[in-house]
Amino acid sequence: MLEKTIKKVLVTEDEICAKSREIGQVLTQEYKDKNPLMVAILKGSVPFFAELTKRIDTHIEMDFMVVSSYHGGTSSSGEVKMIKDLDTSVEGRDIIIVEDIIDTGRTLLYLKQLLLHRKAKSVKIVTLVDKPEGRVVEIEADYVGFSLPNEFLVGFGLDYDEHFRNLPYIGILKEEIYQNND
Ligand code: PRP
Ligand code: MN
Ligand code: MG
Repeated sequence: MLEKTIKKVLVTEDEICAKSREIGQVLTQEYKDKNPLMVAILKGSVPFFAELTKRIDTHIEMDFMVVSSYHGGTSSSGEVKMIKDLDTSVEGRDIIIVEDIIDTGRTLLYLKQLLLHRKAKSVKIVTLVDKPEGRVVEIEADYVGFSLPNEFLVGFGLDYDEHFRNLPYIGILKEEIYQNND
């Protein structure tokens, strides 16, 4: 059913699982004995956060933040809004921000600066997808699952107007789905 709206699958479920295992192993070594706070940026990061954290074999804690910059359209509004803050203090903690995608970079620049300002000991970024061509501010992730071209991607957390987050893979949406709508 949902598959009919997808022009092309770019990253399969198996590839996402394998990559999550790989990054999970690296984080397991790097954060052994550090009890990092892993921060999921809702809503997009939910499926990847679940996949990745299962693959980390050392102590971690989890917390959640809701920020939004797209407000439903296909391009960033340029304004990052905090909708729900963390419950946990980040002071002196090693923080791992988990995102589904870094595009313009505005969301992650805002978040990284905010957490450093709150005196986090370290802030690293893991993102499932990087769209390097979309960048308008200077920020890079420390761990990138897949670097992909500047197309309208959906699935595995990535949405169009809140839909398609539940696809188990990442694909390009057919133009007819959004062209008369935005
Ligand atoms: C999307 C995505 C990232 C951000 C990336 O979130 O999940 O958080 O935009 O774009 P940027 O690099 O241009 O800032 P969105 O604001 O759409 O909210 P959502 O996670 O609820 O979909
Ligand atoms: Mn998001
Ligand atoms: Mg979105």
